[in-house]
Amino acid sequence: MLHPRPANTRAVSIVGTGSYMPERVMTNHELADMVDTTDEWIVSRTGMHERRIAADGEFTSDMAAEAARRAMESAGVTADDIGLLLVSTSTPDMSFPSTACLVQDMIGAENAVCFDLSAACSGFLYGLEVGQQFVGSGSVETALIIGAEKMSCITDWSDRSTCVLFGDGAGAAVLQSRGAKHGILTSVLGSDGSLGDLLMVPGGGSREPTSADTVKNKRHYIKMMGREVFKHAVTNMSEAVTATLDRCGLTIDEIDCIIPHQANARILQAIAQRVGASMDKMFINVDKYGNTSAASVIVALDEAVRAGRVKNHDLVLLVVFGAGFTWGATLLEWFEG
Ligand SMILES: CC(C)(COP(=O)(O)OP(=O)(O)OC[C@H]1O[C@@H](n2cnc3c(N)ncnc32)[C@H](O)[C@@H]1OP(=O)(O)O)[C@@H](O)C(=O)NCCC(=O)NCCS
Repeated sequence: MLHPRPANTRAVSIVGTGSYMPERVMTNHELADMVDTTDEWIVSRTGMHERRIAADGEFTSDMAAEAARRAMESAGVTADDIGLLLVSTSTPDMSFPSTACLVQDMIGAENAVCFDLSAACSGFLYGLEVGQQFVGSGSVETALIIGAEKMSCITDWSDRSTCVLFGDGAGAAVLQSRGAKHGILTSVLGSDGSLGDLLMVPGGGSREPTSADTVKNKRHYIKMMGREVFKHAVTNMSEAVTATLDRCGLTIDEIDCIIPHQANARILQAIAQRVGASMDKMFINVDKYGNTSAASVIVALDEAVRAGRVKNHDLVLLVVFGAGFTWGATLLEWFEG
């Protein structure tokens, strides 16, 4: 677990956000034509009505680059300003070069150091903390942190227990220090590798290199023990919220908006109940996009900001959970301009 922010680092703010969702909408009714499921089952068990699916020639890097352009525009920075470019993803374009390097080339961020980060659905908050450390220490002035996924390429479209859950998309945030005591106030991150086999893509790495057998046995797709993952997601996200509040001496009533990883509306209801938050404090867009993994929380933050749900000086709590297991919560004081 991370310790409270050292007093000698600079305050770091998110100074712009952007997101990009592919045009193609896949409804529950389409899924019901593909596997043995129904719109009613999916809505009642997950809260999802539809999700976005990237086009055939549209890759994680394309979505990441478009989200990055929108975030840079909202922050009023140019690609030359970017000192760190980080992409959190479980669906990189390829093993290497990193998707971050591909995005660097696409947007012309030639002064940036670029790398990918792997923390599954928690990836954006892990990336935000890395960016916060780079900018807070003065290593770089401007960081571009992206969460981007083409989950449709690791989805087994014949497995009803997983294929209804995921979607594609990307979100990005620009970080800078603006000198005052606002912005990212604290982060609580955690990991537990002993539970890794509950949610994984087993094939295609050094353990099970791609072969005719791994393809035949569908080892390149998501494998998940849904019920177990559900329980851990509720417990770990609720505890991350409570730990963050305790660290800052705040109560849940003082938080203006909770932006959770959009895994399942029932998970979010259970967390709200455990931490004593009303549902109208939770920003939810899982109905439109499903679970977009590392993109989820930053896409939701971008939409909340653009919709006016997050206002100047609001206290905003981001909270995530993902494979690994990994989890975390980050408290922000939102600051406009
Ligand atoms: C996957 C999930 C929606 C399943 O919901 P659930 O209420 O736990 O359902 P269960 O897994 O207990 O399955 C109940 C039944 O529905 C069936 N079922 C599973 N998927 C189905 C689908 N798409 N349509 C219809 N029935 C389905 C199961 O086969 C099971 O049938 P059985 O009782 O005959 O065995 C839920 O467990 C979940 O959201 N888990 C967390 C997933 C997640 O967030 N992962 C990413 C974390 S970052």
